[in-house]
Amino acid sequence: MKKAALFLFIAVATTTLYSCGNSEPKNEGNPFTTEDVKGTTTAAAANGEAIYKRVCASCHMAGGDGIANVYPPLAKSDYLANRENTIKQVIKGSSGEMVVNGKTYNNAMPPQQLNDDEVAAVLTYVYTSMGNSGAPVTAAEVAAVRAKG
Ligand code: HEC
Repeated sequence: MKKAALFLFIAVATTTLYSCGNSEPKNEGNPFTTEDVKGTTTAAAANGEAIYKRVCASCHMAGGDGIANVYPPLAKSDYLANRENTIKQVIKGSSGEMVVNGKTYNNAMPPQQLNDDEVAAVLTYVYTSMGNSGAPVTAAEVAAVRAKG
């Protein structure tokens, strides 16, 4: 009897521990993994490429060329000329029609769960690679756009 009780206790304890570990709200509201957000909190532009590959490349492709009629390109995108709209795009996402380099896209991009440093880093990567030649984006620039709501 004692052995059975002990066994039962262990079984319950193990199940409880297991389910507790699983039910932690690790990733609420974030369509991407927690690693995308953690560990990338400094403004180092070098992080930008890593963030891009993990967060953006699945839609905009590794080289930023996008996918015809589905995901607009970031490579040589005329949309980037408006820095405020570009920052807003990453923070808030969008849905509906959008014209990029003369082509109409009608799709949706979810808001990206990145902090100001991360948005600055990933957009600095976009602006300084992929055939683009924009100035680096600072966290202060991102904060200013975010503050506008
Ligand atoms: C789930 C797919 C998806 C992900 C992930 C995604 N985007 Fe987008 N992105 C889109 C779509 C779709 C549009 C066009 C939205 C529309 O039609 O309103 C877009 C538009 C844009 C635009 C404006 C148009 C252009 O091509 O210049 C920028 C800038 C942009 N995304 C940057 C990013 C960055 C930077 C990331 C990563 C932090 C990212 N996106 C992640 C799908 C995505």
